[in-house]
Amino acid sequence: MTEAPPGELFDKLVSLAKRRGFVFPSSEIYGGAGATWDFGPLGVELKNNVKRAWWRSMVQLRDDIVGLDAAILMHPKVWEASGHVENFTDPLVECASCNHRYRLDELPKGVEGPCPNCGERKLGAPRKFNLMFKTFVGPVEDDASIAWLRPETAQGIFVNFDNVQQSMRKRLPFGIAQVGKSFRNEITPGNFIFRSREFEQMEMQYFVRPEDAPRIYEEWKETRRQWYRDLAEHDELFRFREHSPEERAHYAAQAFDIEFRYPFGWKELEGIHNRTDFDLKRHSEYSGKKLEYFDDATNERFVPYVIETAVGADRATFAFLCAAYDEEPDKEGVRVVLRLHRDLAPYKVAILPLSKKPELSELSRSVWATVRPHFQSTYDETQAIGRRYRRQDEIGTPLCVTVDFDSLTDQAVTIRDRDDMSQVRVKIEELVPALREKLGA
Ligand code: GAP
Repeated sequence: MTEAPPGELFDKLVSLAKRRGFVFPSSEIYGGAGATWDFGPLGVELKNNVKRAWWRSMVQLRDDIVGLDAAILMHPKVWEASGHVENFTDPLVECASCNHRYRLDELPKGVEGPCPNCGERKLGAPRKFNLMFKTFVGPVEDDASIAWLRPETAQGIFVNFDNVQQSMRKRLPFGIAQVGKSFRNEITPGNFIFRSREFEQMEMQYFVRPEDAPRIYEEWKETRRQWYRDLAEHDELFRFREHSPEERAHYAAQAFDIEFRYPFGWKELEGIHNRTDFDLKRHSEYSGKKLEYFDDATNERFVPYVIETAVGADRATFAFLCAAYDEEPDKEGVRVVLRLHRDLAPYKVAILPLSKKPELSELSRSVWATVRPHFQSTYDETQAIGRRYRRQDEIGTPLCVTVDFDSLTDQAVTIRDRDDMSQVRVKIEELVPALREKLGA
């Protein structure tokens, strides 16, 4: 990450994200739509890569975790059982003078202090504001048809505990992982995609024997911390922070955040919680269906504890972007480089003919056709080659392949590396294995 002043860095990232097709404000031509964001052509690649890297490490490389894709709309009782109808609230404070709204924890002097917006001392008493979006299922809008947009994906996992355990014949300890949209009617969304009203979560619930929960909790803390080490260079930008008992969510007996040093300060990136048997017991109580585990080795029947890891895909994408952003002086001014991990970069390879001459274009396009089935790649033949290298650096493309006039005779091309700027010449017929070796793919 560059050492640019934090405010400046934030502005640079937001501007780069828009200019280069990573993230656009939702419904921008109508003036935006209340803290929701659209991922553009490069953003969707980056976020998909983040989700893919998470799925690979949490599901595909493990024999104890399976995946799930539950519906967003669930039975309304789910949210009563989970405690969200009662407890998923923020204390909302409104200024009687300018009508600006705050979460209580955003007011340094509480409701006694002045309104940060207008300066008047007319802040009202805090009232509970439920963060869930309410909607109605079917044509009638009455109490019987209320549905909630899920504020976390986790409940889809809890209500399927029995289905998954039985169908997959899983024995403790085992986990269920899920990636999907969640919705929260945040009082004060902001900081770009850090806090929005519609976002994606990557959550995993790991079911364990109650006595194993403290040990397995520590293991998951380390496993998740390592995931960030594997994918981002700057370890110093990540840290743990333990929640105080007052701060913990209503279901958590133990809670740590993995925090990231965003340009606006240290903030939660991922939560790791010991949810005890709270959720399974509550769903048993509210649904009337026992959610238990039978251990046929010991003949015991009990409700497992749950260790949860929960991270926002958008927040993680933003953290990886911040960590990757780098600037260095060069002869044309400043070279901006996104030093994204090769697994995360939207494009792995860019094919760049030295000039637009038809004979070079033709060869370059055939090189691209050879590369395209193997790597997410792009092609660019407009403007000077130096500008094109910079354009690829700015979006994090690890390797550029330059096709020059010698290529027409020696059937070789040059691979240029984003990070060490090294250049090597390889035969076109050896290009795919050479790229694969460089990408560690
Ligand atoms: N199931 C547990 C749970 O949802 P959480 O700490 O409320 O716990 C987990 O949320 C993660 O989801 C957060 O660490 C954050 O990365 C992401 N997240 C939560 N609210 C968000 C929002 N409004 N915008 C973007 N990401 C959010």
